[in-house]
Amino acid sequence: MKAKETIKTDKASKTMDDIISFCKRRGFVYPGSEIYGGLGGAYDFGPYGSLLLNNLKNAWRKAVVRTKPNYVEIDSAMFKEPKTWVASGHVGGFSDPLAECKKCNVRVRVDKELGALGVHADEKMSEEELNTLWDANRKKVICQKCKSNNWTDARMFNLLVKSNLGDFTGEGKTPVYLPGEACQGIYLNYKNIVDTTRMKIPFGVAQIGKAFRNEINPRNFLFRCREFEQADTQYFIKPNENKEAYEKIREERFNWYLGLGIKPENLRWKQHEHLVFYAKDAWDIEYNFPTYGFDEVEGIHDRTDYDLQQHMKYSGVDLHYLDQTTGEKYVPWILETSVGMGRMFLTFLCDAYTVETLPEGGERTVLRLKEELAPIRYAVFPLVKNKPELVARAKEVYEVLASEHMCEFDDNGNIGKRYRRQDEIGTPHCVVVDYQTMEDGTLALRDRDTMEQRRVRVEELL
Ligand code: GAP
Repeated sequence: MKAKETIKTDKASKTMDDIISFCKRRGFVYPGSEIYGGLGGAYDFGPYGSLLLNNLKNAWRKAVVRTKPNYVEIDSAMFKEPKTWVASGHVGGFSDPLAECKKCNVRVRVDKELGALGVHADEKMSEEELNTLWDANRKKVICQKCKSNNWTDARMFNLLVKSNLGDFTGEGKTPVYLPGEACQGIYLNYKNIVDTTRMKIPFGVAQIGKAFRNEINPRNFLFRCREFEQADTQYFIKPNENKEAYEKIREERFNWYLGLGIKPENLRWKQHEHLVFYAKDAWDIEYNFPTYGFDEVEGIHDRTDYDLQQHMKYSGVDLHYLDQTTGEKYVPWILETSVGMGRMFLTFLCDAYTVETLPEGGERTVLRLKEELAPIRYAVFPLVKNKPELVARAKEVYEVLASEHMCEFDDNGNIGKRYRRQDEIGTPHCVVVDYQTMEDGTLALRDRDTMEQRRVRVEELL
């Protein structure tokens, strides 16, 4: 069958509210604990969302581990010896400055409020230094809720989430923290990996792991949560051999997004002007989110030997690397890539989400995801529900395809509606068993993007 005439694409109407309601309506993302009124900063991935999330993880793994002989992947425990977080600097320095409205108790991030007034608050500032800036400016900040400008002093609020693991007396003297960042599990296992694998520097370690942060204002849907997943790579290199490798890693990560279909005009670099305590250089890959505008998706950090030096100091274990060929001994430097899986998910979803005006009138919503990312690869339909031989043949086709791909069977409603449902969740191919199938065995294969159809045999799809 011939392709339909040009499809007019209408993107002007795309807002983050559209994306959020789409996610709920089509089973991609649900607000966490919704039946109890929800829990701020926690979200659940629904059936299609989990499939997309897993496909993104697999595409990430393919790029950073499977196709790189000098990379391995690990999966470390979330609970870590509490000294980990002292050594990493999180117990002492992983804090946001917070102030409260004296009238309605709304809390704000003082550094963000100062920033909005054009006053830079450095994260290395002490509480006292910060309060000097805050004193000079706090009256200019208007509370969003009650419109007053009467704020408390700024107080440093640590973002680490504590657990009561092993605290049977309930005294909470030695809290075991939940991970503030996933990468620490890689640093704790660096020596194990060197001792038990054939990895030689330079080599990389990848991990997807959960992170928890007591964000003061979790907001913007999946963008700022209190519980989220990070996909990290840590590349261990010889000291001072960071420059070229850092450039290469940055380029690879940027191109990964483009290769998987992100529109180039929606992606850009931002270099950090003010570095966090562990970084020598830091760049963010930013995406142009609907409503929010450009913001960080992935961070690429030159961490020097900060992490291993700290863990060596606090654990007392020698973390020097011995080069067997040259006899050189050194503490490796680390180049890090770290992306929040929720932000990656939102990036691909927002970029693919398209509302199109159809030539024959009406609209369709289509997720223009690359085939390897689509939650469902093939949807299989009998043309009509009331012909048992068509339904039986369609079920057979479904079973054959489902042995290799993620598939969905649908015999509910008219064929046009079934196509629309699949377009909306990004299914690249719909396979229809019709009367011709019963005559010559061929199936109608309909393409999501062009809406074109052609005849195929099931073997061609495998
Ligand atoms: N290990 C380095 C590290 O954790 P980061 O810039 O704090 O660096 C890395 O976090 C990535 O994790 C960010 O680029 C972002 O994608 C994601 N991320 C950070 N905080 C987040 C939050 N509260 N909610 C969702 N994702 C977050």
